[in-house]
Amino acid sequence: MPRYKNFLSLTKTRKTTYEFDQKNISKTNILNILEAARWAPSCGNAQPWYFIVVEDKKTIKQLVGTTHYIHAPFIHPLPPVVIAFVLPSDKHMHQYFEEEYTHCCIHSQCTQHQNEEELCFAMSVFSSTLAATDLGISSCILTPQQDQATKLLKVEKIGVVRLLVGLGYEKNNAFQKARTRRALKDLVFYDGRRK
Ligand SMILES: Cc1cc2nc3c(=O)[nH]c(=O)nc-3n(C[C@H](O)[C@H](O)[C@H](O)COP(=O)(O)O)c2cc1C
Repeated sequence: MPRYKNFLSLTKTRKTTYEFDQKNISKTNILNILEAARWAPSCGNAQPWYFIVVEDKKTIKQLVGTTHYIHAPFIHPLPPVVIAFVLPSDKHMHQYFEEEYTHCCIHSQCTQHQNEEELCFAMSVFSSTLAATDLGISSCILTPQQDQATKLLKVEKIGVVRLLVGLGYEKNNAFQKARTRRALKDLVFYDGRRK
């Protein structure tokens, strides 16, 4: 029996969890979540991402402590697992994936490249959260202060820790933030016009 009626119900069920239970998640589930992240689409199939699985409580506390934007309430109790998503530097990608690392731009003066990598990177992060939801695992996406998180995980030679995904099970009676979205009618244009 599928857990969700359809993909739409899966995407709507994914939410930011603010209070985690301390029950661990299995290695198999972690790997399934990372498998979904690995299969995200990317520009020219560049796959600009690495994943660091962090389970050490002290490191998780330090990492979450570097969070850039704080929306009340802050994440607490912390998730038992954090995946640090590393955005590799251009230099690293050229050095290690020269042959398959094609630039998607046709102009030699392209300045969009870093933006495109960030777009791809975000797809991987989002895939991981959907896969987690599908497995009944709760998640939160956090923006760390890049320099601090990168230094903490010692990945300066590869790139930067750009986003964190906390994973775990939601605590009983956890705080629920009201979840809203703008109305579709205010977002959609048909041939440039609102209907
Ligand atoms: C790229 C990205 C970065 C985010 N960074 C933070 C963050 O640093 N701190 C935080 O509390 N929430 C962060 N969030 C979570 C958003 O606040 C949250 O997704 C949004 O309020 C919508 O709520 P929902 O996830 O429950 O649908 C981030 C979300 C995304 C997609």
